[in-house]
Amino acid sequence: MGKSNFVALLWVSLVLLFLPLFYGGLAMGTGTLDGSEKWGYVEVRPKAHMFWWYYKSPYRTQDPNNPWPIILWLQGGPGASGVGIGNFEEVGPLDSFLKPRNSTWLRKADLLFVDNPVGTGYSYVEDEELLVKTDEEAATDLTTLLIAIFNKNETLQKSPLYIVAESYGGKYAVTLGLSALKAIEDQRLKLILGGIALGDSWISPEDFVESWGPLLKDVSRIDDNGLTESNSLVEKIKLQIANGKWTDATQTWSNLESLISDHSNGVDFYNFLLDSGMDLMSMEATEVVRATPRIKYIRYLDSLKSSPDENGDIGLLMNGAVRKKLGIIPNDVNSATGGQSSLVFGYLEGDFMRPRINEVDELLSKGVNVTIYNGQLDLICSTKGTEAWVKKLKWEGLKTFLSIDRTPLYCGDVSITKGFTKSYRNLHFYWILGAGHFVPVDQPCIALEMMVNFTRSLVSTK
Ligand SMILES: *[C@@H]1O[C@H](CO)[C@@H](O)[C@H](O)[C@H]1NC(C)=O
Ligand SMILES: *[C@@H]1O[C@H](CO)[C@@H](O)[C@H](O)[C@H]1NC(C)=O
Ligand SMILES: *[C@@H]1O[C@H](CO)[C@@H](O)[C@H](O)[C@H]1NC(C)=O
Ligand SMILES: *[C@@H]1O[C@H](CO)[C@@H](O)[C@H](O)[C@H]1NC(C)=O
Repeated sequence: MGKSNFVALLWVSLVLLFLPLFYGGLAMGTGTLDGSEKWGYVEVRPKAHMFWWYYKSPYRTQDPNNPWPIILWLQGGPGASGVGIGNFEEVGPLDSFLKPRNSTWLRKADLLFVDNPVGTGYSYVEDEELLVKTDEEAATDLTTLLIAIFNKNETLQKSPLYIVAESYGGKYAVTLGLSALKAIEDQRLKLILGGIALGDSWISPEDFVESWGPLLKDVSRIDDNGLTESNSLVEKIKLQIANGKWTDATQTWSNLESLISDHSNGVDFYNFLLDSGMDLMSMEATEVVRATPRIKYIRYLDSLKSSPDENGDIGLLMNGAVRKKLGIIPNDVNSATGGQSSLVFGYLEGDFMRPRINEVDELLSKGVNVTIYNGQLDLICSTKGTEAWVKKLKWEGLKTFLSIDRTPLYCGDVSITKGFTKSYRNLHFYWILGAGHFVPVDQPCIALEMMVNFTRSLVSTK
C-alpha cells in the first residue's frame, strides 16, 4: 500500500468514525450560557432542516419518584409556527412583547417547541419537493428530531415526554405518538412517552364540518337557509371523503367556510361569539396560510385584516429580536412572512381531510394516556364535533366512559365553573368553559392546572 493510499484510507476512516458524531451533534446547536435554553437545527432528512427550542424550567426538581415532565408543543395550521405562536402567544415564558408570562407552562414543565413540519417558521427545506405530504411523514421527521435531542442526554431521558397539540397539531400528535412508540420498541429512541393531549384538535374533519351549521343555527348566527346550504356542502364533503377524494374534500371544505362566513356575516371560526378579526390570536394563527396559492383559504379574513401594530406583532418579533438572539437562522429563512409555510399547507392538502380516529384508538389500546380538551366557544374544532368522533372510537372502555358523570372544575374562585372533566382508564376529557380555539390564551388558569394534573398523573380515574 502506497503512502498516499494509506493517508486516504486514514481520512476515510476518520470521516466514517466522526461523521455520525458531527451529524448527531448538530442537534445540540447552541443556547444561553446558563444552559436554561437550547436551540438548534436537526437535519431530519438530507436538505430538510427542523428548528427546535428547548426551555429548562427554573423550577425543575430531581425526584426519581416524581420525574419532571417535558412538554412538546405541536402547533396547527398546517404551517403555523410553534416556536412563534405556541411559545410567545400561548404558553412560553415570554409574551409577544417579551414581557414575562405569569401563566407560562414553564412553571410546571420543561418546554420543547418545534417549527413543524419542515418549511414552517424557522424550519426549511432546500428543495420544495422535500415538504411533507402526509401526517405520517411529519411524524417520521419529528421522531428523527426526538432521537437527535433525547438519545444522548440521560437527564432528558428520565423525564416523561408529553405531546400537547393544538388544532391541526393533533393529527401530528397521534401519528407521532405511534411512530415514537415504535422507535422506542425498536430501541432507536430513548424516551418515556408520558401521554398525549389533544387540544381543539382536527382529528375528524368530517365530524367538525358537520357540526358547524347546527351549532351556529342554535346560537342564532345562521338561519335555516344557511343551514340548508351548509348541509348540502357537508353531504358533498362526506361523499368525497367516502370515495377517498381527499384533495376535492379540502376544496369543498374551503367553500363551506366561505359559505358559513357569508351566512353568518363573518363569524370568527376560532370563537363563535366573535366576528372574525376580533380574536387577535385567530388572525395570527391563520395568517401563514392566508396566502396559500393552491386553495382559496378563509377569504373572510382578508377583508378584515387591520394593519398590524409594530408592537406585539409576532411576525416582526420573530424576524427581529428573536432571530437576532438565536443567531443561527439563515438569512433567506424569513419567518415574518411565514417562510415556506404557505407551501406547507398546499403540500398537505391531500391529507388535510383525512381522519386520525384510528390512531387515537391504537394509542388507547396500547395504554397511552390520551387527554382531550376543548374550548366551549370554538367553531372550527367544535366540542360538538369532538364529542362526535370520540363516540366513533372502537376502544373497549368507551361505553363506560360515556356513561359516567362529569366533575365540575374551578380555578381560584369557587363560584365560577371553569369547566368539567371525566376520565375512564386512560381516556381523559376536559370541557373548558369560556374558551375558544386557543384554550391557554382564553383560560390560562384552568389550562395550567389541567396540564399539571395530566403530567403528574393526577387525573381522577374511576
Ligand atoms: C400569577 O400566577 C400565580 C400562580 O399561578 C397566581 O397566584 C397569581 O395571582 C398570578 N398573578 C397575576 C398578576 O396574574
Ligand atoms: C441534558 O439536559 C439537561 C436538562 O436540561 C441539561 O441540564 C444538560 O446540560 C443536558 N446535557 C447535555 C450534555 O446537553
Ligand atoms: C387537578 O387535580 C386535583 C386533585 O385531584 C383536583 O382537585 C382538581 O380539580 C384537578 N383540576 C383539573 C383542572 O383537572
Ligand atoms: C396514565 O395516568 C394514570 C393516572 O390517571 C396513571 O396512574 C398511569 O400511570 C398513566 N399511565 C401511563 C402509561 O403513563
